[in-house]
Amino acid sequence: MSTEILKTPRANVSIYRDAEELALKAARRFARLADQYVVGCGRFTVALSGGSTPRAMFSLLAEHPFADTVPWSSIYFFWGDERCVPPDHPDSNYRMANETLLSKVPVPAQNIFPIPTEIPEPDQAAKEYARALSKFFFAGSSAPKSGTAPLSSLPRFDLVFLGMGPDGHTASLFPHSAALAAGEQIVVANYVEKFAAHRITLTAATINNARNVTFLAAGEDKAEMLKNVLQGSYQPDLYPSQLIRPANGTLLWMIDHAAASLLTEQNV
Ligand code: 6PG
Repeated sequence: MSTEILKTPRANVSIYRDAEELALKAARRFARLADQYVVGCGRFTVALSGGSTPRAMFSLLAEHPFADTVPWSSIYFFWGDERCVPPDHPDSNYRMANETLLSKVPVPAQNIFPIPTEIPEPDQAAKEYARALSKFFFAGSSAPKSGTAPLSSLPRFDLVFLGMGPDGHTASLFPHSAALAAGEQIVVANYVEKFAAHRITLTAATINNARNVTFLAAGEDKAEMLKNVLQGSYQPDLYPSQLIRPANGTLLWMIDHAAASLLTEQNV
């Protein structure tokens, strides 16, 4: 079945038959971008998300043909957000990616950068991750020489995968939460009232500095919010996914028919 493409003023949307087809197409996109960046730049940097669609994509990537053909040793893995739980906790996004993918393919351990939730204080953990990102992305390249500042002090990921909750959150940028106003910080701890817990998240500024941002969303429980986010009025405090507008990169929504059911054709 051919993919339906819907262009909206806010983003390009690719619509697939179901969650299974979506996971396969997302795995192919990951593999294609990895090849492209490894050939062109010698490495590929990706931030992963939690959620059910990425889980299916990770499982596919851990199998033939991807497991044997993706340039794993040149890929660097980061996370877009994390729950404040130990890395072996069932809610850990790191654990999910590790169990379904990273432990099954030849990625060197030093290429894997989990959010350091072993640091008990969420603000400290966020600061430490921001430091680790700055070190990785800027070590040796960003020191301002003779007064010239780097173009941006934000990391520039090659690809950021995101999901969207039915409440419009993405990464751990929840409606009306403090992280929505984090400005140019790289990573912040965000208190999420509905869970009465902190999460650690890349900020919208960091995500928007990426070369490619890809949302994966499946299921009819996403349809109404997707309509609001892509075709409703701009209210990012209520619909944080609307904050994601890469300044100098691509934005693609990969969704299934069920999630797309309320979208309408628009002139762009
Ligand atoms: C998390 C996330 C989160 C997720 C959405 C969508 O840790 O929960 O990274 O932002 O991507 O909640 O999740 P689903 O794909 O499972 O609906």
